[in-house]
Amino acid sequence: MDSAVSNAKTERVAKADAADAVRVRRVRAADVPHVIDLDAHVTKIAKAAYWNDIFRRYGRQRLNERFFLVAEDGAQRSGSGVLGFIIGEIRAWEFGSTPCGWVFALSVEPRARLAGIGSALFAAISEEFKKAGVNKMRTMVARDSMLPLQFFRSEGMMAGPYLQLEKDLE
Ligand SMILES: CC(C)(COP(=O)(O)OP(=O)(O)OC[C@H]1O[C@@H](n2cnc3c(N)ncnc32)[C@H](O)[C@@H]1OP(=O)(O)O)[C@@H](O)C(=O)NCCC(=O)NCCS
Repeated sequence: MDSAVSNAKTERVAKADAADAVRVRRVRAADVPHVIDLDAHVTKIAKAAYWNDIFRRYGRQRLNERFFLVAEDGAQRSGSGVLGFIIGEIRAWEFGSTPCGWVFALSVEPRARLAGIGSALFAAISEEFKKAGVNKMRTMVARDSMLPLQFFRSEGMMAGPYLQLEKDLE
């Protein structure tokens, strides 16, 4: 077999195995410090108060329309193996939009990337949105942020019908 083909196949199998080993579930209080650490590591801005508030609102309230999910290493049972998270909610009638799912946070631990964890989180929240009765999901990405753009495009997301407008306030 051609070694490039063989390597590509080995990589796909390894990625599928890694994604299978990951478990996606709702966030728990014990995960919040790990979410705070992961976000601080990735964004270089520590914001514990923000994440505690997000947990209170999205991990505890209106759970039929708010989804704060974490991916953990399936083999790790200690509850400290958070490898990534995704957060979204059903939003209705903003700017005339019919109810749709909004993803407003997604992050995967840098050392665990490119192993299908982002896709597993995306698939899990898509399923929750569908179960909640919406047939469209949206997110927002900075134009110059190639990584999330590539990721969301690979998940089938495309430019939507809304334009974001802004103005400096003096
Ligand atoms: C974007 C992010 C969530 C992807 O997580 P991940 O677990 O590495 O993603 P996956 O392994 O599931 O990749 C799925 C697909 O996304 C695309 N993708 C992911 N990382 C990529 C990269 N570095 N370069 C190009 N494409 C990439 C690929 O198409 C990939 O599929 P493929 O490997 O079969 O080609 C992760 O890189 C991350 O946390 N980035 C920093 C935070 C961020 O940008 N968050 C999003 C906006 S809030």
